[in-house]
Amino acid sequence: MTQRVWTEVDDYIAGLVIGDDPALDGALEASDKAGLPQIAVSPSHGKLLHLIARIHGARKILEIGTLAGYSTIWLARALPPDGKLITLEYDARHAEVATANIAGAGLADRVEVRVGAALDTLPTIAEEAPFDLFFIDADKVNNPKYVRWAIDNSRPGSVIIVDNVVRNGLVVDATSTDPAIVGTRELGSLLANEPRVSATMVQTVGDKGYDGFALVLVES
Ligand code: SAH
Ligand code: DHB
Ligand code: MG
Repeated sequence: MTQRVWTEVDDYIAGLVIGDDPALDGALEASDKAGLPQIAVSPSHGKLLHLIARIHGARKILEIGTLAGYSTIWLARALPPDGKLITLEYDARHAEVATANIAGAGLADRVEVRVGAALDTLPTIAEEAPFDLFFIDADKVNNPKYVRWAIDNSRPGSVIIVDNVVRNGLVVDATSTDPAIVGTRELGSLLANEPRVSATMVQTVGDKGYDGFALVLVES
């Protein structure tokens, strides 16, 4: 049971519960055409983000790591008409492709793409806090800093989702010198020791391989 089966099952699930979706399919096509890496969340994962946002009734969402706006579109579609999503992206070319994709999905009125390193742009959006939902999916080495910022700019009941916390199982290697793994393990300790949150991590397999996400509830 490995990658071939995981991909086949992910395709089966996407065919069942998502189907053709011109805006999302077009976003991935534009992303490929522009030569962006194929590291967006999978369709089933995107829909999971969308459903969590709707279950939560999120009105204000912060995303870190836009790429071509695929996860952005899933999340922004969960917002009410007066809701808002801010998404932070380091690479101006990624942001350009994303902005076009978001407009193509009819979501330009609800989504703002801010270009720059997230640690530089986060202070400029503190005035928009508190956010109801955070999706953190950028440079993994900074995840502890992003999550700390998210907790500080949340309210009791806010939800934080962090992508890519398992990385093929490498996360259990306490001797790893890979900055992404070191950052992920530091995030784990932070979540374990931070009294203001309750957290779990869920392992996943699918067309993007073996990975996982963290789900965090801000308690107080
Ligand atoms: N969330 C997207 C995928 C994001 S891929 C989706 O699922 O569709 C990670 C993105 O984070 C890349 O576009 C990368 O350029 C961006 N990134 C990397 N370092 C960053 C930083 N310091 N600040 C903001 N964005 C960053
Ligand atoms: C990478 C980043 C991601 O956000 C992801 O979901 C998969 C891979 C990466 O940088 O390799
Ligand atoms: Mg990711």
